[in-house]
Amino acid sequence: KILILDFGSQVTQLIARRVREAHVYCEIHPNDVSDEFIRSFGAKGIILSGSHASTYEDHELRAPQAVWDSGVPVLGICYGMQTMAVQLGGEVSWSDTREFGYAEVRAHGHTELLRGIQDFSTPEGHGMLKVWMSHGDKVTALPPGFKLMASTPSCPIAGMAHEDKRYYAVQFHPEVTHTVQGTELLNRFVRGICGCAGDWIMGNYIEEAVQRIREQVGDEEVILGLSGGVDSSVAAALIHRAIGDQLTCVFVDHGLLRLNEGDMVMDMFAGRLHAKVIRVDASELFLGQLAGVTDPERKRKIIGGLFVDVFKAEAEKLKAAGNGVKGATFLAQGTIYPDVVESGGTKTKKATTIKSHHNVGGLPEQLGLKLLEPLRELFKDEVRELGVALGLPHDMVYRHPFPGPGLGVRILGEVKPEYAKLLQRADAIFIEELRSTIDPHSGKSWYDLTSQAFTVFLPVKSVGVMGDGRTYDYVVALRAVQTSDFMTADWAELPYSLLKKVSGRIINEVRGINRVTYDVSSKPPATIEWE
Ligand code: XMP
Repeated sequence: KILILDFGSQVTQLIARRVREAHVYCEIHPNDVSDEFIRSFGAKGIILSGSHASTYEDHELRAPQAVWDSGVPVLGICYGMQTMAVQLGGEVSWSDTREFGYAEVRAHGHTELLRGIQDFSTPEGHGMLKVWMSHGDKVTALPPGFKLMASTPSCPIAGMAHEDKRYYAVQFHPEVTHTVQGTELLNRFVRGICGCAGDWIMGNYIEEAVQRIREQVGDEEVILGLSGGVDSSVAAALIHRAIGDQLTCVFVDHGLLRLNEGDMVMDMFAGRLHAKVIRVDASELFLGQLAGVTDPERKRKIIGGLFVDVFKAEAEKLKAAGNGVKGATFLAQGTIYPDVVESGGTKTKKATTIKSHHNVGGLPEQLGLKLLEPLRELFKDEVRELGVALGLPHDMVYRHPFPGPGLGVRILGEVKPEYAKLLQRADAIFIEELRSTIDPHSGKSWYDLTSQAFTVFLPVKSVGVMGDGRTYDYVVALRAVQTSDFMTADWAELPYSLLKKVSGRIINEVRGINRVTYDVSSKPPATIEWE
């Protein structure tokens, strides 16, 4: 296994992710763990992360001496390289030219780490790497025994190595995808240089995570808010695997879920996994409070607030009574790594909130519960892989995201029960057709070719003809987008034949809707949801 020492960079988790992609087990620990910890950890190699700090100013932020005494290979990245230089007798100085973003480094390919790796070569025949740099300070003198491994005009020592000791360091970030050979470089370090076998798979993660959950929870009890979304479902399945009936899931059904979704969640968790799930049917409460409310942000606040109230009431009951044993002391959440970054958990600035997102922040304190967040270090695609490894159905785990306020933000203006029923049926038809229509070029379904697709209910009526009669019914809009990060998105160029079929089915099968439109707006300036 590999030990990653975190000096506080925003991208340390990406290092862990790349190491896992190389099928090697790793753990991230703070840079100031004790020498004893390092000795007993038994790493085959150590990676020192980047940081926001400056080695020049911050004399406290160093790798423990045991790192250098351990005899295992060490890879320093960015700040990790600078602290390596300082601790081993080189020099670092403050630089007035900040390098940030894309850079081309000349790779001196005579080390085991970089030998034969290049993206292109210069007319003089120098091997070059396309990398991502982000640093102010730089190493200005190599420590004794080190040789130069990479350079740029503004950063003459952009990489260094002491091959007898197997110490390597790079000023650029191999863990980010903009560094073209980054994955290969980390792969070489952990498998080639450290000699890790590369036989670790997500399945093994389950065993390790189960062990950690058991240690953390002991014989106490846990409650978890199950929404039916990917993250809370995978967290529930994992925690259930670890502690069985010590977990109680609370599923608040606000009546604004997709067609049959509530029953499907219950079938899966109560029926197939035999987990304890309490289904709270709160649809009357939610729809009652939403009556007459048209402002999107107010709707979101009402739904979010009620959700917390209902969940809290259930949690209080469980806390008092427990499963008949002694009451819950932990609140489990399906927080994943991108959520940690978004909420400022890793020192990054919180992105501006354009729409107030549905979350349960502050709940653990209010309830006096400890937090259990077993997915905190995983990325979305890793959570999905874990879900499949835990036996959750592929369709559930690879589902498009669904907003917390549910159909509440997909019914424009006032939310009425009759609108929700029409929308659920129209949306189910759209999704069914997306799943069953295969694109011949890629062999994938249009559901898999889109990042998010849904139907929006427009509370306006338009005139139509059906049979011999005139109709005066509601309109729905179909929305399907392609995006990699949901910050920007393009509308999907769905085949006309698919749109035609969906429209025909909705108008024929859902009485009350006589017109279907397709949303051809990209984000920005539109958003993905309509509210
Ligand atoms: P927008 O509409 O802002 O959506 O382009 C970006 C992504 O965020 C989801 N979304 C929400 N998710 N609570 C959520 O949990 C919300 O209030 C909310 N609003 C938008 C949206 O579905 C899309 O994936």
